[in-house]
Amino acid sequence: MDIARRETDILGETLIVKGKLKKVAGVLWTEAEIKRRTEEVAQEIADVYEPIFKKDKDAILVLCCILHGAMFFTVDLVRQMHKLLPSYWKRIRIDSLAISSYGRGTKSGKLKIEKDFKNPIEDFHVLIVEDIIDTGYTYSYLNQLCEYKGAKSRRGVTLVGKGARREHDVVNLSFIGFKIEEDVFVIGWGLDADEQGRQLPFIAAIEDV
Ligand code: IMP
Ligand code: MG
Repeated sequence: MDIARRETDILGETLIVKGKLKKVAGVLWTEAEIKRRTEEVAQEIADVYEPIFKKDKDAILVLCCILHGAMFFTVDLVRQMHKLLPSYWKRIRIDSLAISSYGRGTKSGKLKIEKDFKNPIEDFHVLIVEDIIDTGYTYSYLNQLCEYKGAKSRRGVTLVGKGARREHDVVNLSFIGFKIEEDVFVIGWGLDADEQGRQLPFIAAIEDV
């Protein structure tokens, strides 16, 4: 399925990614579309955790923001979740984790934890918040890490889910903002290409010049 590429004032502008010249090929999702979809995803998440909070008065949910890509999405999501579940404000928390991958060129290489969680997640319900899931390598590692650290339950939410190159099981990836079937590289709303483009208020595709 081809996704429509729409106009932006940076359309056609070039950038260098890993030594290669690329260009902005068009907007896939606008600010309004991302905000609307985030509200829907927050509702889906609230529908899952509200019964858990109701049933277990000690239940605590930790949103685990995977830095730096998921920062924007995490903020939007948790604010919206608060609107939906205002009475549980003491039981919805935020932590973050930074990981980097190295080796094996463009493919996911060995993963290294650059910044661990601030607090233990043992016996807490953990929601991993990702910007994008491509091969699934990073997510499956994070999922196992949270299991190892004793999380009571583990689920994942991603702003963008790419399907074309999926190689690893994505267990409990329960919520997906936008799906991309084609193999396209995207930037904006936290997503970067060699640290460029995180602050763009839309999600755009980049391609070879
Ligand atoms: P995975 O381990 O193959 O699922 O890839 C995950 C990581 O690759 C993400 O956390 C991103 O940092 C990066 N990544 C993959 N595709 C894109 C993209 O289209 N734009 C920006 N980053 C991407
Ligand atoms: Mg990333």
